[in-house]
Amino acid sequence: MILTRRKNYEELLGEQEFFVTPLIRKSIDDALTAIGPVASGAKVLDIGAGECPLRGMLEGSGYKYSSLDIEQNRARTIDHIARIDALLPDSLSKAGGFDLLILTEVLEHVPDWKVAFQNLALLLKPGGHCLVTSPFFYMLHEEPYDFWRPTDHALRSFAESNGLEVFLSRRNGDGWDVFGTLLCSMSVCRRKKSFLAYLATLPVWCIHRMLKAFFKSRVLQGLVNLQMRYYLGNLMLLRKK
Ligand SMILES: C[S@@+](CC[C@H](N)C(=O)[O-])C[C@H]1O[C@@H](n2cnc3c(N)ncnc32)[C@H](O)[C@@H]1O
Repeated sequence: MILTRRKNYEELLGEQEFFVTPLIRKSIDDALTAIGPVASGAKVLDIGAGECPLRGMLEGSGYKYSSLDIEQNRARTIDHIARIDALLPDSLSKAGGFDLLILTEVLEHVPDWKVAFQNLALLLKPGGHCLVTSPFFYMLHEEPYDFWRPTDHALRSFAESNGLEVFLSRRNGDGWDVFGTLLCSMSVCRRKKSFLAYLATLPVWCIHRMLKAFFKSRVLQGLVNLQMRYYLGNLMLLRKK
């Protein structure tokens, strides 16, 4: 189980995060822009908040921030310890409707989507928004609590069954990002302690290092369109009718 969590969306936790983190950050910015001006007193609930990497940005935009997670974080800043896919605690029911719910890289860890989406609909005010990002091509993490790699069709279907309409939907990451993430999640080493294995591994190790550096340089990414029927992750902004 990987316990390291983002403290913000600027820092990269490791090479595997190199391609995805800026895309998630841009998705959040674009979704907040699409929602428009923040009404005075608007409330946001960050669900599966982890180390609350979005707190500063959301408070800076004018939202009254609160957080929910299944466990307390290192800084002890989680306001509601609960599961989003179980009966919600009174503290949340009493908190009233939220203007915005945020789930960044959370739904892949939530086993019961039926209950989770019912709760999202319950927590939102009419006209309120729910911002979801979730991986589609990404390494296993936080095992054994890593359940899904949903398509945008799955997100849409669960949302619409619970009265949430899709306001904005995007597939993040092109072929360069997918290949780059794949390369960055690999390691090359000898299978046996023999000289022959060493000789065979050395060129593979060098090629892997060079390819990683090339993809990370993004030299061709702006010039050549690498199309693929894979992508890194979903952005979906939902609105309660
Ligand atoms: C990959 S971390 C993402 C943290 C943060 N949202 C971010 O973007 O960095 C997933 C978070 O979801 C939380 N989580 C997992 N299952 C959950 C559930 N059923 N209900 C609420 N939170 C959950 C985990 O404890 C963890 O903090």
